[in-house]
Amino acid sequence: MTDLFSQIEAARATIAARFPATPKVGIILGTGLGAFAQQIQGKVEIPYTDIPHMPHSTVQSHAGQLVCGTLVGLPVVVMEGRFHFYEGYSMQEVTFPVRVMKALGIELLVVTNAAGGMNPHFDLADVIAIEDHINLMGDNPLRGKNDDRLGPRFPDMAAPYDADLLKLTLDTALDLKIPCRKGVFVAVAGPNLETRAEYRMLRGIGADLVGMSTVPEVIVAAHAGLKVLAFSVVTDICLPDALEPVVFEHILKHAATGGERLNRLLPEVLARWSESR
Ligand code: HPA
Repeated sequence: MTDLFSQIEAARATIAARFPATPKVGIILGTGLGAFAQQIQGKVEIPYTDIPHMPHSTVQSHAGQLVCGTLVGLPVVVMEGRFHFYEGYSMQEVTFPVRVMKALGIELLVVTNAAGGMNPHFDLADVIAIEDHINLMGDNPLRGKNDDRLGPRFPDMAAPYDADLLKLTLDTALDLKIPCRKGVFVAVAGPNLETRAEYRMLRGIGADLVGMSTVPEVIVAAHAGLKVLAFSVVTDICLPDALEPVVFEHILKHAATGGERLNRLLPEVLARWSESR
């Protein structure tokens, strides 16, 4: 078995051979948020199965693909379909694509997800910019021997979510009249949703949103020195004293509604970010 560094390089070389531009931004699309990729221009679509060392899809119906192209004039790579820890992938597998996007040259990682809203001010389909996180997944993608070429042994987590980009996002949302708040995201392993006692606890420890992804990718992005901007779309309301059973189809419906807002907001945020540099 080759080491992680060589695997990243092999995957990078395969993608670069089909999309020679240096992407500035990598975007991971969450559950139900795949429509975003339709906005990419000059698309080069690379199925994950064509990329060496990408995890093989085990359970999901669609294997997923990397969509490369431009958005608001910026070269981007978009992951249509992500790998979840609850599917049985290791933390290293879940985060491998982040390493590859970093090797391709991205400076900014944008991560989106569908999440449960525990803050009583949040509504279904709300778009929330993540300002901080709590890792309750019980594992960590950086566990094991550290390769210093990829990042430091003890990466700082004082500010994994870029404060300037967060402010830019909230200002842009105001200008576009798109409702957008900020919140703290807690990641759990899943795949079951939480009990009422668990939601009560998660709210009590300071989280506004709960989901089963994003934190591993953000930890690796911080390790790799990437800027991060992350969003949740609220797909179910998790108030412990008024909890209703979750229907997966409803999650997808609210993700699609919130996704439409995100599809308008994110390109404008990236355009302003690009102009300001
Ligand atoms: N809990 C955990 N993950 C989720 C939820 C939730 O309520 N909603 C969407 N993803």
